[in-house]
Amino acid sequence: MDRSPFISEQVTHYLTKIMGSETPLQQRLRVQTEALPQAIMLTSPNQAALLSMLVRLTGAKRVLEIGTFTGYSALAIASALPDDGTLTCCDINEEWAAIAKSYWSEARIDHKITLHLAPALETLATLTGMYDLIFIDADKGNYAAYYEASLTHLRNGGLIILDNMLWKGTVADTNDNDMITRTLRELNEKIRDDPRVETCLLPIGDGMLLARKR
Ligand SMILES: C[S@@+](CC[C@H](N)C(=O)[O-])C[C@H]1O[C@@H](n2cnc3c(N)ncnc32)[C@H](O)[C@@H]1O
Repeated sequence: MDRSPFISEQVTHYLTKIMGSETPLQQRLRVQTEALPQAIMLTSPNQAALLSMLVRLTGAKRVLEIGTFTGYSALAIASALPDDGTLTCCDINEEWAAIAKSYWSEARIDHKITLHLAPALETLATLTGMYDLIFIDADKGNYAAYYEASLTHLRNGGLIILDNMLWKGTVADTNDNDMITRTLRELNEKIRDDPRVETCLLPIGDGMLLARKR
């Protein structure tokens, strides 16, 4: 189910029904994850379809994901990669990683994925080589640092995708001065004014910001 705060429940049901591009395995992982207390963190099926499409459209072969949870978005990304493509995942939670790994193995895409269980900024400091596409979906307080680090790891013409950049619409409310809201609002403005990238902010899910490195 797509749970975008910007779309009515009726349209949400329609979207899920008409655009049901989930595989049975993706659906099973989503249902299992939705039973967790942290289910709100899950990427929506429509977002997963967009991620798959962007991987294919960009011809990405090396992808980095910051924030993997139970592996739902990674499943969509890695399934769209060619057989010699690679996905580097960053997370800190072993329990969720175990769920992710079991589904990646069942999908026979586990040979494409390397999961680093450590704070993502530590992992990013160890990575070498350039990436074609980077998906940022972890702790919001570090988003600005993830964005800067990602730019150094991204090839020219590559794509950074940042999730939750509308933060349930609160970034548009200038009276809302919650710390995360301010962080994401300032980051939207910084990326908009960043001459290193061209951008597009999509109101899909909780807001996905696309930044293409020039
Ligand atoms: C929104 S969830 C990711 C959702 C995932 N992309 C999906 O599609 O289901 C955020 C994840 O970031 C992870 N995380 C939080 N702080 C982190 C950190 N400092 N380094 C790496 N991962 C972190 C959490 O453990 C959690 O799994």
